[in-house]
Amino acid sequence: MSTPASQNPNELVHLLSQKIVGQPEALKFIVPYIQMFQAGLAPEGRPVGIFLLLGPTGTGKTRTVEALAEVLHDSDKHFLKIDCGEFQMEHEVAKLIGAPPGYLGHRETQPILTQQKLVGVTSEKNDLSIVLFDEIEKAAPSLTRLLLGILDKATLRLGDNTTVNFDRSLIFLTSNLGAREMMRELNPNFGFQSGSERQSSQVSSKLESIALAAVRKRFSPEFINRIDAVVTYQPLNAESLSAILDQHIAELQQHVNTRLGARCFTIEVTPQSREFLLRKGTSAEYGARELKRTVHRHLTQPLATLVASGQIEPGCKVLVEVAPDGTRLNIRNTGVATPALRPRNPSILIVDDNSDLLRFLERLMSEADWSVIAAESEKQANTMIEGQHPSAALLDYMLPDGDGVALGVGLMKRFPECQVIIMSGAPLPPEEETICQAAGFPVLRKPFLATDVMDLIRARLAAKSAATS
Ligand SMILES: Nc1ncnc2c1ncn2[C@@H]1O[C@H](COP(=O)(O)OP(=O)(O)OP(=O)(O)O)[C@@H](O)[C@H]1O
Ligand SMILES: [Mg+2]
Repeated sequence: MSTPASQNPNELVHLLSQKIVGQPEALKFIVPYIQMFQAGLAPEGRPVGIFLLLGPTGTGKTRTVEALAEVLHDSDKHFLKIDCGEFQMEHEVAKLIGAPPGYLGHRETQPILTQQKLVGVTSEKNDLSIVLFDEIEKAAPSLTRLLLGILDKATLRLGDNTTVNFDRSLIFLTSNLGAREMMRELNPNFGFQSGSERQSSQVSSKLESIALAAVRKRFSPEFINRIDAVVTYQPLNAESLSAILDQHIAELQQHVNTRLGARCFTIEVTPQSREFLLRKGTSAEYGARELKRTVHRHLTQPLATLVASGQIEPGCKVLVEVAPDGTRLNIRNTGVATPALRPRNPSILIVDDNSDLLRFLERLMSEADWSVIAAESEKQANTMIEGQHPSAALLDYMLPDGDGVALGVGLMKRFPECQVIIMSGAPLPPEEETICQAAGFPVLRKPFLATDVMDLIRARLAAKSAATS
């Protein structure tokens, strides 16, 4: 397992604030604990950091945990989530820790929280595991007691008497305590421009005291004292909601580029359509929670119908406008090409000791006007790329002097922009498979068609260029 992540502190804050909009306080509290872990200075015998996230619904509490997983482990799924609502009754807690030996069927009860599960949500990149206990106010009293042990000593004793260690874990607790009262406080003010600076800072501190009072009423002081930071998420203002909409539109564009490859197109959403989506997708009740669904319903689905019925030409600009009756969006193909998305003369490194295939691919790509560096071994590749900046690398897994996955990881370090694709004649060994997943290397199984490989490279380059433009 690797040493802690190599991100520098500013990079971490920068990456996270791109993903978590309008909650700078949350990052200010959380990031120093990750830095302490990365510096090897996190105290032993306790979790790396324990955070209680409070505040109105749809303001980014769960999104924060997902974003951290993305940044630390390259996947928003790489965290262990315990829905405390599933453990409201005392007998249900056994599902979490497994029944003690001697109980009927104890062998069949696989505990949900095991050391293996904790390790399972770490990655090659980082061995810090993220654990989320969602809606802790719903937990049965015995679960709260177990939690106390985790927070205090970083250990959990399972039914079979083994222990789970949390001293390489970041623990997030979320709660809706005080949410109803917060809504009452917010209702007239929520959402679009809720007033002057002074008013909104008053609202923030009011929410904070509501949340804290509710938490103090429900949990004992010894429980609360073990929490490193209590963060009250703020209602999102118009600017933040608009930035979240931009994220969703950018994600959709990225998806179009990756999935459609050479047939991709550019989506342009007019200011009126953006307002339409914001009006439909944000509310006092649900914050930004409905925004994704609204984009899906009004943009993604109609777009998919047009693509499927061949009404959108590859490389075109697709204009999204509000329909005259104001109840939906009109999507229209303007037919204007988008040179920004077309990779121009990319340079491709191909490494394969199957010289017939190598020469065939070299010819194919040269015909597409790409510049090609073709090598039969890792050593030859390393010599040939001196002074070059390959935009993509197509690497065979089995090389005479190494393996394509390790070569790809090395290339990524030297050329972070390079899009690595692995070719393989057989399934990769699990370890290499995991590395490819974590690093985002697609694996192309041999045999493949010429169009498969060309489309895949085009898609990767288009996605890259959309992400950086
Ligand atoms: N601050 C934010 N930054 C980016 N996206 C956000 C933010 N807040 C909400 N969203 C969007 O809204 C969705 C729902 O937000 P999230 O799941 O984080 O809500 P929550 O605060 O955990 O609410 P709940 O208390 O209901 O669990 C997210 O998946 C994301 O798309
Ligand atoms: Mg949530």
